[in-house]
Amino acid sequence: MSSLSTDYKHLVAQINQWDHEYYVLDNPSVSDAEYDQSFRKLLDLESQNPSLISEQSPSQRVGAKPITEFRKIEHNVKMLSLANAFSLEETFNFFEKAAKELNIDVSTLTIFSEPKLDGLALSLHYENGLLTYAATRGDGQIGEDVTHTIRTIKSIPLKLTSATPPQTIDIRGEVFMPIAAFEKLNRRAEKTDLKVFVNPRNAAAGTIRQMNPKIAAERDLQFIPYGIGEYEGPLSFTDHSETLYYLHTLGFKQNPHCYAFSGNFEAFEKNYHVMEHARAEMPMQIDGIVYKINTLQQQTALGFIARSPKWAIARKFPAQNEITQLLEVDFQVGRTGVLTPVARLEPVFVGGVTVSNATLHNMDEIDRLGLYRGDNIEIQRAGDVIPKIVKVVKKGNPRTPILMPTCCPVCNAPIEKTEGQTAFRCSGGLTCPAQGAERIKHYAARKFMNINHLGTKLIELLYSQGTLKSIADIYTLKLNDIAQLEGQGEKSAQNVLDAINASKTTKLGTFLGALGIHEVGEEGAKSLAKHFKSLNSLSQATTEELMQVPDIGPVMATNVVNFFQDTRNQLIINNILASGVTWQEEDNEATPQILAGQTWVLTGTLQVLSRTDAKAFLESLGAKVAGSVSKKTSCVVAGQDAGSKLSNAEKLGLKIMNEAEFLAEFSAYSLT
Ligand code: IVH
Repeated sequence: MSSLSTDYKHLVAQINQWDHEYYVLDNPSVSDAEYDQSFRKLLDLESQNPSLISEQSPSQRVGAKPITEFRKIEHNVKMLSLANAFSLEETFNFFEKAAKELNIDVSTLTIFSEPKLDGLALSLHYENGLLTYAATRGDGQIGEDVTHTIRTIKSIPLKLTSATPPQTIDIRGEVFMPIAAFEKLNRRAEKTDLKVFVNPRNAAAGTIRQMNPKIAAERDLQFIPYGIGEYEGPLSFTDHSETLYYLHTLGFKQNPHCYAFSGNFEAFEKNYHVMEHARAEMPMQIDGIVYKINTLQQQTALGFIARSPKWAIARKFPAQNEITQLLEVDFQVGRTGVLTPVARLEPVFVGGVTVSNATLHNMDEIDRLGLYRGDNIEIQRAGDVIPKIVKVVKKGNPRTPILMPTCCPVCNAPIEKTEGQTAFRCSGGLTCPAQGAERIKHYAARKFMNINHLGTKLIELLYSQGTLKSIADIYTLKLNDIAQLEGQGEKSAQNVLDAINASKTTKLGTFLGALGIHEVGEEGAKSLAKHFKSLNSLSQATTEELMQVPDIGPVMATNVVNFFQDTRNQLIINNILASGVTWQEEDNEATPQILAGQTWVLTGTLQVLSRTDAKAFLESLGAKVAGSVSKKTSCVVAGQDAGSKLSNAEKLGLKIMNEAEFLAEFSAYSLT
């Protein structure tokens, strides 16, 4: 056991070291494959020996359970804020005053400049080198416990990388979302009709305040420290720059573009220009520069006034507003058919970039702004990556109203609006090309029609060539349509066609989910199938009848009715059915739960069934499928090359089956 636990500790330390190289130093030393292999090994070890699992394991960044409320945390050393300066003069005056108070000449001060990261202040509490909690600033005195989401941030060490960490230390810094991550998150949100964030700061705030850490783990947040709060232990520094370097040695990222210079006016001026240029190149949003007196003794001598230090100030970048003209508003159609207005502007240079588009979110925003085509408008890039329209400054002459088109700009189908919702949608459904490729991907996806080999890239290619226009075209694909594409040959084309054929026998619920009826997800589709049992009766159901089904509300019911009333959708479905897609009548009796109360374990490689299918099958009979073997395991199915789970099962004298025995045992049931 002791060597197992040593191996485990080494593996944890190794992966943490690789994470540090990748996420903090931006300098990975292993390939993704090697990393993945070790991570899998770690997960295997942990699932077989749960008692070994350490809080510092990289697998433990996402805690199991979402929280239900934010616990309050009192800061032992208050989290202060900074006074703002909006000009060079104001900045310089601030330090002149400080120098006067210290009875020295301002030019003898060493000023340390750091980018002012546009995120949220955090305090990370470490005890004996281990992260124990993370708190937001709150009112400076009392913040909120956000440890569950903060632990998912890979640039925050769960264990400080020092052999002699202080007994306790509060590390203060900024949590933020890099611009690229913010843009990616919003692109995904737009596609899936989720909340679009106005700027990276809001996205970071929304992410750390998620109750469920799994959501935070999917988003890329980063943390950079800028100081220390309370600590216990033998630390002694003379300069702020030393403190920052020390924090880096504890395993944290460093703020890029930090400079030290003497306190004279020209040096401040030069620094500002350097930072203005650096800003455009930086991967994160910054909203100013923080200037600090570098000597800690001088900082202590100056102290604080109200809620801000007398030794540091934030020089804010001016708001980046410009006036331009609104030339046109176009409407873009997303996967689910939602129309989003996009403002086309007379190009204007603002905040270092030429802007010619701005988002408008929805029609309500246009009404709120009182916006007409031709108007002179003020746009802003203050902190926002996507420029926004602030207001109309002068009415255009001529000016024309902006109206939601009545027909889809892509497929010409009528536009509709569900009562109580802000969004307008294209009713083109399965035939609208703007929704097309995405809908086909949805249809073919593993959890729906599960068409192996017909992947995202291939669908996009076939779609762009016009071979696949709708989901019905999947069934008329010819060998040559695929074989002639770059990177494809006859063999791979045949694999695709075979997979299409193999997918034709399905379940009604799966097929309904695959159709992608707006708001009808996997579960909704299953409930509909269970209730109506046939496509025919479902397609003729009224809203009232649909609302009898558990979990189906008025919006979903209306969407279902509209979907089946649309003759274009009817045609596509008929073509699909004519090509041989079938399902067994949904029988009302649930599958007998003959394995209820039993725990099964699958191990090794199965030849006929995939592990996922075997697991789903066992679960459909009521079994629980576990990842590790214990005395309580009812049966182990051992495929080829089964390893330690099989030997453990043998040691424990458990029931073991090979794959052939497993298939024979359940031959009376439909295994696929
Ligand atoms: S120093 C005692 N340095 O700006 C003051 N703050 O407007 C400690 N901020 O609450 C703050 N980047 O959240 C400092 N390099 C930086 C910063 C920074 C961003 C934030 C911080 C603070 C706010 C004040």
